[in-house]
Amino acid sequence: MLYGCAVQPALLRSDRAYAQLIVDQCDILVAENSLKWNAVHPAIDQFNFVAADILLGFAEQHGMKVRGHNLVWHEALPPWFAGAVNKANARQVMVDHIQTVAGRYAGRMHSWDVVNEVVWLQDGRPDGLRTSPWLTLIGDDYIELAFRTARNADPQALLTCNEFGIELDTPDNQAKRDAVLLLLRRLKARNVPVDAVGIQSHMGAAEMGRFTGAGLRSFMAEARRLDLQVFLTEMDMSDKHLSPAGQATLNAQQVDPAVAAGYAKYLKVALSDPAVTAVLTWGITDRYTYLSWNAAKQQLEDVRPFPFDKDYHATASFYAIRDALDDSGQHSPA
Ligand code: XIL
Repeated sequence: MLYGCAVQPALLRSDRAYAQLIVDQCDILVAENSLKWNAVHPAIDQFNFVAADILLGFAEQHGMKVRGHNLVWHEALPPWFAGAVNKANARQVMVDHIQTVAGRYAGRMHSWDVVNEVVWLQDGRPDGLRTSPWLTLIGDDYIELAFRTARNADPQALLTCNEFGIELDTPDNQAKRDAVLLLLRRLKARNVPVDAVGIQSHMGAAEMGRFTGAGLRSFMAEARRLDLQVFLTEMDMSDKHLSPAGQATLNAQQVDPAVAAGYAKYLKVALSDPAVTAVLTWGITDRYTYLSWNAAKQQLEDVRPFPFDKDYHATASFYAIRDALDDSGQHSPA
């Protein structure tokens, strides 16, 4: 069982305590943003691998693995995309991007999120696929094309279909799980090289009271029957909404037990299936997390979703995650 986290490569150089924490705790890293299109592909004929190279170099120096995130997504498209990509060239643009980016790191990636968030039932298609720019420009075989291109570019990486909103017991999460499995079965039936499904695992501590994990269990079992590995790719446990709107903000002593309990409850189910081989949190310290941004208030706020707080002290969540990994009995020896 691998544990790791999402990393901002520049911080590995500017913040020694952050870098040390990651060396101490992680078996596997993923770039939080540095391999997305807008980071790596700044102009149609130009690539920038500076940040990603820093991450790969750091990981390899310390014997850690790396996941690639991601090759095809409807978000984080660069500003040039809308003006330059059309039905005539979209296929070639996507294929070139995958060949260049996955090809550069061939043999060095544990896995690649080949497609990210491609299921979106709200778009109303019978197959559940999101009407992303890629689907609109290329057609519904773009997913298959992306996986086949990635396999050719890096035959060793485990090719992953990454998705969110498939963790909880709610009807909408259940419907989404069904649609994701439908997609995976379709891909497998066509011999598309898909090796793993990523469960993003962005969650809120406030909603974990109702979590039973029944739907998640059968989703993972079904993925295993399809011969897929399962990765928890972007886990975090937001402490927002723990206090009812309008009430005073909670302090650490109130927040931390609730967040830790959320992790414990989730991981007890999520780590119970032998298909799960890697767990990554979407950050590691409360000092650096996209969850700090309060969009409603347009300001940064203190949040406590991670195993280490702003001063890099282990929180209750650290112990909850550690114990869950130990209990899974599959963790790698220290
Ligand atoms: C987020 C990053 O954490 C932010 O820094 C960035 O501004 C937006 O993207 N699902 C994903 C991730 O697959 O790529 C997203 O990462 C979080 C949701």
